[in-house]
Amino acid sequence: MAPADVTATTVRHLDEHTGAAVRLDGWVYNSRSSGKLGFLMLRDGTGIVQCVLSKKDVGEEAFAVFEGLTQESSLSVWGTVQQDDRAPGGYEIHADGLTLHQLAENYPITPKEHGTAFLMDHRHLWLRSRRQHAIMLVRHEIIRAIRDFLDSNDFILVDTPIITPNAVEGTTTLFGLDYFDRSAFLTQSGQLYNEANAMALRNVYCFGPTFRAEKSKTRRHLTEFWMVEPEMAYCDLEGNMQWAEKLVASVVQRVLEVNGEQLKVLERNLPPLEAIKVPFPRMSYTEAVELLNGKGVDFEWGGDFGGGDETIISETSDQPILVHRFPAAIKAFYMKLDADDPRQALGMDILAPEGYGEIVGGGQREEDLDKLLKRLREENLSEETYQWYLDLRRYGSVPHSGFGMGIERVVAWICGLPHVRETIAFPRMINRVEP
Ligand code: 4AD
Ligand code: MG
Repeated sequence: MAPADVTATTVRHLDEHTGAAVRLDGWVYNSRSSGKLGFLMLRDGTGIVQCVLSKKDVGEEAFAVFEGLTQESSLSVWGTVQQDDRAPGGYEIHADGLTLHQLAENYPITPKEHGTAFLMDHRHLWLRSRRQHAIMLVRHEIIRAIRDFLDSNDFILVDTPIITPNAVEGTTTLFGLDYFDRSAFLTQSGQLYNEANAMALRNVYCFGPTFRAEKSKTRRHLTEFWMVEPEMAYCDLEGNMQWAEKLVASVVQRVLEVNGEQLKVLERNLPPLEAIKVPFPRMSYTEAVELLNGKGVDFEWGGDFGGGDETIISETSDQPILVHRFPAAIKAFYMKLDADDPRQALGMDILAPEGYGEIVGGGQREEDLDKLLKRLREENLSEETYQWYLDLRRYGSVPHSGFGMGIERVVAWICGLPHVRETIAFPRMINRVEP
């Protein structure tokens, strides 16, 4: 047991205790001994610090406990905080003693290289690694930055339901469930409810998990992902694009300010992030198709961009690109048609640089009741289930817009990760629901 006058603290707060005696509670990240001196890398969830133990200071018995330590065993260490510029976090602990809580035997993730499948099977333990730890901290800051941006711009958070009778983004990716004596779905997007909330509260957002039975096995698709969705009353496509680009830029800025240490662990190349600034370049879908054709890609107006197409488009700039005005036929029923060319809908996507593809999707909504009804019928959606939504066009309909930003895609881009599976603690994919 640590002496009573020793203050318990965390690695993150060591700078407040220079020269003082503290106790740290954590896990063994690594340890090595040179007979009389022991070096313990202690991980406590807030960081990693080196603890130096000498047999003389801690005594024979405690030193023997140290020598028996294994990777990820849990323990408390107490000693003096020493400032040391050569140490990774700038501090080191000169230990006076330690107690073991539990000896971990045969921790499966060793410092050697493991395959992805093995690591994914051990995701519940893999999260303890330095790299996964860094990603989770960046994700946390991204979410905080999003909330701060929206909250400080008078957006009101209104939670939307997870269980819903309505399809938002087509019927092919719906997860169905038995809901007592009827059927319902897991939500694909909170958008339709957001539209109701925007008519009540003006500028709103929802932020929650969304679900898609995506058959796509790509590095950008999860079946459960988190999406922030702002929705603005009295806002057109251009206003929508401005909100979206400001949000993206402010999130990048925040991570650069706060997460320098994590970006270093992730070996993220910083200049591409440091260059991000509004306004982002804009390109219509039609211009994007011309660009692809100009580069020799066989792509016809009317098709949906694949990952490879998005990469070619995004390579035209160092900035994220706002692509707007898509063929109505490939977009959802709720999108407002372009008055200048009714073949197109007033949708917009943001494509991230460095080949990360679409991170934001949204647009202006159809506010006219008859046009919306026509689109519902064309898509074979049940009018009955959407009556509540149609009411929004019957009672004080106004131009309005919104968008959704996928958190995992943004985390993958900002952290520079090859796959979205590392962007969320427990990813759900077509072939994985465990652990
Ligand atoms: O473009 P999407 O489908 O747009 C909507 O859902 C709109 N209803 C949002 C709105 O206007 N309120 O999805 C929005 C974003 C995409 O740009 C992408 O970042 C992310 O959600 N996303 C996914 N992320 C991971 N895995 C998937 N399967 C995703 N599908 C979409
Ligand atoms: Mg989209």
